[in-house]
Amino acid sequence: MDDKQRVGWFAAEKIQDGMVVGLGTGSTALCFLQALAERCRQENLNITAVASSPISAIQASALGLKLVSLEQVSRLDVYVDGADEVAPDLTLLKGQGQDLVREKILARAAGQFWVLADRSKRVTRLGERFPIPVEVWPYAWRLVKAQLEAQGAKPELRIKESGVAVTSSGGFVLDTQFPEAWEAAAIDRLLNDLPGVLEHGVFFNLASAVFIADQGQVEERRRSAC
Ligand code: A5P
Repeated sequence: MDDKQRVGWFAAEKIQDGMVVGLGTGSTALCFLQALAERCRQENLNITAVASSPISAIQASALGLKLVSLEQVSRLDVYVDGADEVAPDLTLLKGQGQDLVREKILARAAGQFWVLADRSKRVTRLGERFPIPVEVWPYAWRLVKAQLEAQGAKPELRIKESGVAVTSSGGFVLDTQFPEAWEAAAIDRLLNDLPGVLEHGVFFNLASAVFIADQGQVEERRRSAC
């Protein structure tokens, strides 16, 4: 079992019968999904799952999990997802995929948000390894880009082989580097207040717990406010 599988099992073992569980997207979230499906089979658990993306919906239904759509739920017990970066205060960077908007809705709405990571995700400063994804309404991308530049940031429109990247919510993404001196809290505030921004990849004060696997051991870190 590698570290991603170990942390996936660690989280799956905490799920209780009858829970409504949000499913994240990515290779680590998939390990959780597989472990959860295995527990449901072996222990006959009644779990209701809500997917954060078309990919996790396909994976969950292939594994036999009972899925409901986002529109059908008004509460979730827990949302479980990976992250691209984890800072020491448990602020996260997410959004290398195409499903940022749904990921943040689920993370915020759930009673608990558990984050699964291996040691490669630890950073000392948010934005250390990746630019910060800023999802924008397509018609506003040039205006938002110009306003970010005026603040000293460096936004780049995300391009894929097929052309401009379009998210599952229909947005464009500006992958944005901020000056090193900017704290995550200040970036979060700026992006929350900027019209034209649909959502962004700074997950500030959202994680209830981060489970970090490192060479076979899983460390559980909880935000003190939770
Ligand atoms: C998806 O948009 C991201 O937020 C993912 O949570 C992230 O990319 C983690 O993926 P891995 O577990 O594959 O690293």
